[in-house]
Parts: sequence; structure tokens; C-alpha cells
Amino acid sequence: MKKITAAVTGIQGYVPDYVLTNEELATMVDTNDEWIISRTGIKERRILKGENKGSSDLGAEAVKLLLKKTNTSVEEIDLIICATVTPDMLFPSTACLISNKVGAKNICAFDIGAACSGFLYALTTASKFIETGTYKKVVVVGADKMSSIVDYTSRTTCVLFGDGAGAVLMEPNHEGYGIKDTILRSDGDGVKYLNQPAGGSLKPASHSTVDAKEHFIFQDGQPVFKAAVKSMADVSEEIMNRNNLKSDDVAWLVPHQANKRIIDATSRRMGVSDKKVMLNIQKYGNTTAATIPLCLWEWEEKLNKGDNLILAAFGGGFTWGSIYLKWAYDSKK
Ligand code: UT7
Repeated sequence: MKKITAAVTGIQGYVPDYVLTNEELATMVDTNDEWIISRTGIKERRILKGENKGSSDLGAEAVKLLLKKTNTSVEEIDLIICATVTPDMLFPSTACLISNKVGAKNICAFDIGAACSGFLYALTTASKFIETGTYKKVVVVGADKMSSIVDYTSRTTCVLFGDGAGAVLMEPNHEGYGIKDTILRSDGDGVKYLNQPAGGSLKPASHSTVDAKEHFIFQDGQPVFKAAVKSMADVSEEIMNRNNLKSDDVAWLVPHQANKRIIDATSRRMGVSDKKVMLNIQKYGNTTAATIPLCLWEWEEKLNKGDNLILAAFGGGFTWGSIYLKWAYDSKK
């Protein structure tokens, strides 16, 4: 029997309605549209407004729409994995909360924490359950309500992030479509440049941590930028080389959307033209675990069966990685 591969068989995104523009941010902190666009490529981002709403609400919307779109009944789902850095609570997992919101009972559900590389880590993990024959239908969600950990008085971070979610359905494939190869890396020394200092077991939330704004994202942008440019380009080139892919063989680069300049550096190293790069950072900013599925969702209609996609990400940890994915269906409606 031919080897089982894990294929993406459906994709759905969800972004909240509220649009936070660069112009509005310029009324909140000392910034301007020209700086944000030229340094990051971001024009606007979405924000989840309202009380009692967390990342699970974003994720659950994406999953509900995904199930409807793919004619999948919730009873068929074996596993939900959620990648997030903004879980609703430290426990239970956001995947458990999403399962409950979509009506999935008695299934396996867990979170993966790999920051901006979380979706690649989750997709790879899901693929192992499918390749081994353990599960037949797995939903992988990337969901982040970044606005919950952004300090809107800090111009160095508040312009970067947005809220959103994306979900994919993964199923076994016997024709060789789906995940062909994956590279995942980490370097915990990166903690000093990108972290959320308080709220975990190291520094539980207290009046003093809140006063010191330690429940917000801390980022030293330049070292993160340098590491991201090198690492994302390195793994993208490495996965091409070890699969004998030339730039012409790559139909699409699907990069994590943290900064357009990082994306440009990666595509240049791969020799892939701008026309083959999925880019929606201008609309959504950095939605952390959701950037890659949101790209796939927006580009779905342009994808053809057999297209070679390279997914690439870099984020907190540091974590980074790339996936070579052979698209499994013709999406043209
Ligand atoms: O997805 C997770 C991984 N994260 C990333 O990949 C992000 C990596 N880092 C970056 O994308 C970039 O470092 C940033 C976009 C965060 C910053 O861009 P930069 O080109 O590295 O700017 P910088 O931090 O060197 O700041 C340059 C100047 C500074 O002013 P001075 O010291 O030169 O006078 C900043 O204070 O720009 C100033 N600045 C701003 N000015 C207007 C910083 N933020 C802003 C702002 N508006 N929002």
C-alpha cells in the first residue's frame, strides 16, 4: 500500500470586524502611517472587541465555517490542535474550549505553543497522527487575540499586531499530496528578545507586574528582525535544496506575516518572485499563529492540485521552521 501523507483538504479564516488603522493608532501613540508602512508593510489590523471574548471565539468561528464549507460533521473530527500564544486561560487549553464551542465531544484536543511558528509546529504534529493511521480527520487552528497582550501606549509593539484565526482540515492522502517535508527549529536563548514577562509560573500576575506592564509583549525589535531574516531564509532554502526544488518549482511562498522586509529577504534568497508570495500583512498585521492559515484562506481560489507550497515562519522562543506542502485539490470555484 502506498504511504499515507497528510493533506490539507479545506481551509477557512476568520477575522473580527473592527479595523484598527494606522491613522487611528497615530492618535494613540507617537507614530504615523508612513513609518509603519515603510518599516513593516502594515496598513491596518483587525481587533476583537467586546467583553468575554478570547482566542477560542476566533478559533471556533473559523472551525465552524470550515466544517460547513467542507461538509464535515463535527462527529467525524478526531483531533483539534490549536496553536496560540494568547490562550483564553493558562488552562484548560484553547483547543478544549474550541471543541466545546463547536460541539465536538470526547475528542483529543490540545494546544501547541511555538509563538509565530505555532501553526507550522501544529501542522507537523497533526501530520504525524495522520501518517501513522491514528486519526482520519484532524483540525489545526491558529488563533490569536494579540490585542489582549499588546500595550497600546507602546509604539514599538502596538503597531505590529492584530487578531485573527485560521483553520485547516487535514486528511490522509494516498497519492502523495500534502506534507512532503518539514523542518522545525528552536533556540531558547531568544527569550531575552521576545517574551511576555509575567503571568506564568516564573512571575505570577500581581499588582506589581501589572504596574510594570509585564503582562504585555516585550520585544527588542532589531535582534529579532536580524534572526528572523536569517532563520526564515535559511530553512526555506534548506527545504528547497533537500527536496531538489528549484525556484521555478515553487508555486507559492506562504510566509509568516511579521514584517514585509523579512518576507522580501526570504523570497529573494529562494529566488522566488514577488508574484508568488502570499502577502496580506497590510490588512491584518501580525496575527501570530493565524498568519499562515489566513494567507492560505485568502489565496485558496488561486491554488491548484499539485502546487508546491513552501510555508515558513519565525517567532518567539526563538522558534522557526518551514514546510513543503503539495496542495491536494483544485480550489477554483
Ligand atoms: O513575529 C514575531 C517575530 N517578530 C518579528 O519578526 C519582528 C522583528 N522586528 C521588526 O520587524 C522590526 O525591528 C520593527 C518593525 C519592530 C522595528 O523596525 P526597525 O526598523 O527595527 O526600527 P527600530 O526599532 O530600529 O526603530 C527605529 C526608530 C527608533 O527611533 P530612533 O531611536 O532612531 O530615534 C524608534 O524609536 O523608529 C522609532 N520607532 C517608531 N517611530 C514611529 C519605533 N516604533 C515606531 C513607530 N512609529 N511605531
